[in-house]
Amino acid sequence: MIYRELGESGIKISAITFGAWAIGGFMWGGSDEKQAIGAIRRGYDLGVTTIDTAPIYGLGLSEELVGKAVKGNRENYQILTKFGMRWNRTGSQEDFSSDKGFEDLWSGVYLDGTRDSVMKEVEDSLRRLGTDYIDYYQMHWPVDNAPLEETMEALVRLKEQGKIRAAGVCNFSADQLREAEKTVRIEADQVPYSMVRRDIEKYVVPYVQQHHKGIIAYSPMQRGLLTGKFEPGTKLSEGDNRKFSRYFKPDNIRKINEFLDQIKPIARNHDATLAQLSLSWTIHQPGVISALAGSRTPHQIDDNARAADLELAPEELQTISDHLDKLNLDLD
Ligand SMILES: NC(=O)c1ccc[n+]([C@@H]2O[C@H](COP(=O)([O-])OP(=O)(O)OC[C@H]3O[C@@H](n4cnc5c(N)ncnc54)[C@H](OP(=O)(O)O)[C@@H]3O)[C@@H](O)[C@H]2O)c1
Repeated sequence: MIYRELGESGIKISAITFGAWAIGGFMWGGSDEKQAIGAIRRGYDLGVTTIDTAPIYGLGLSEELVGKAVKGNRENYQILTKFGMRWNRTGSQEDFSSDKGFEDLWSGVYLDGTRDSVMKEVEDSLRRLGTDYIDYYQMHWPVDNAPLEETMEALVRLKEQGKIRAAGVCNFSADQLREAEKTVRIEADQVPYSMVRRDIEKYVVPYVQQHHKGIIAYSPMQRGLLTGKFEPGTKLSEGDNRKFSRYFKPDNIRKINEFLDQIKPIARNHDATLAQLSLSWTIHQPGVISALAGSRTPHQIDDNARAADLELAPEELQTISDHLDKLNLDLD
């Protein structure tokens, strides 16, 4: 495994981080506790010491599962969690498995960046995670119910109290990063980034590089699409909301699979899977310090963790880039 510094925090994180959204079940068609804990521990054996979770993942369940998995070995993990997305629904199993539309599922979920809310959320996360500190605490989305300065001041306070080791954000533009940093040092921006989703390259990556921060890339396998296992007609399980994603439109799946066929020889050359190729590509991009590999099973993290060992030659990266230039997805 490769380890890289999280901004200038002194904290080292693994280049492949365990992405713990799917294990929470909510919007992913359910959760399996035994598989989830097994996957986190298997990842650790392979050097994946960093885990990214959030309260909203499974409405508390993902953080609880992470807490159970790291129990007795907490100090050897780096736990990344978030705040700012709250909910007033019950979190019942019905919510996890029912096949509701995207908007329906998100009704009852709201954004809150007020100081009081941050201070309450951190205590809830610490309790669910079974720990007394969070390595890296990230604002999940920009909000409009509180000035950014107020939210960032709450992070300064939490650092002083020793409840968090470093402060961060997700889904921030370069301008928003600049604004946040008037109050607190931000170590990285967690943003969507994959071979087929590269909009951050224009402004966010240059800003991050110039200011000695990192990109933490989420959905690097484009929620599983870049593993090559989906066909235009693949039926997703009830409650799996990927069917509402624009990337999962049948025509986009077809085009992505054609692209994957073109780069398969590179994977074959390295005796690697497409999951490993897409993750390795991601962690080799400028500014990226870690790719969050969403993993549900020990088998998946086994595959994903080994991506860190895959060295891509400059000409292989160029070939991938050339094929990507011709890929024209319909993302309206
Ligand atoms: N900050 C934010 O706003 C934000 C937003 C989204 C995600 N994230 C973070 O980023 C992480 C990763 O993103 P993501 O989960 O959306 O997408 P992803 O990592 O691109 O895809 C994960 C999904 O792909 C499938 N998969 C994983 N490894 C595989 C393998 N080796 N072979 C075949 N299939 C495999 C699994 O689903 P199936 O087995 O069901 O196909 C898995 O849940 C999340 O867990 C979360 O920590 C953050």
